[in-house]
Amino acid sequence: MAEQLIITNKEDKEKTYKELIPQIRSLVECEYDLIANLANISAVLKEAFNFFWVGFYLVKEEQLVLGPFQGTLACTRINYGKGVCGTAWKNEETVIVDDVNSFPGHIACSSLSLSEIVVPVFFEGKVVAVLDVDSDKYSTFDNIDSQYLNEICNLIFKM
Ligand code: SME
Repeated sequence: MAEQLIITNKEDKEKTYKELIPQIRSLVECEYDLIANLANISAVLKEAFNFFWVGFYLVKEEQLVLGPFQGTLACTRINYGKGVCGTAWKNEETVIVDDVNSFPGHIACSSLSLSEIVVPVFFEGKVVAVLDVDSDKYSTFDNIDSQYLNEICNLIFKM
């Protein structure tokens, strides 16, 4: 298993994502424990992009429950359809929010978080988790983040 992340280009986020994907693939290929893999994916994304907050919420019964993350203290439970995370779970699609203050029902874990992307993680056709990434700047996320974060989420249950 690679224990050191190699990023040669931090200026161009698409190039950074392209460098990360094979490294994340090799991490999850070497380990079958879900929590260990989610923890390392959070760490890799935090190190590569220095996002304000990056982590996973896991579907447990009728709620999303906080899982491995990197960043500040976060709310532990989110109801189905609530907030950005609950919306991505309910709609089974990626949600990009340029300004969290304009998203009805946004759950503010930190007032420093200004924009956000949430990507659902599927297993056997069902959403089993979401990846939540927060930025302390407005309009951080676009279709490039959506494309590559979805690719990363698709690696989680490939093994
Ligand atoms: N803002 C999220 C809640 C989770 S925190 O940002 C870590 C939401 O509205 O679902």
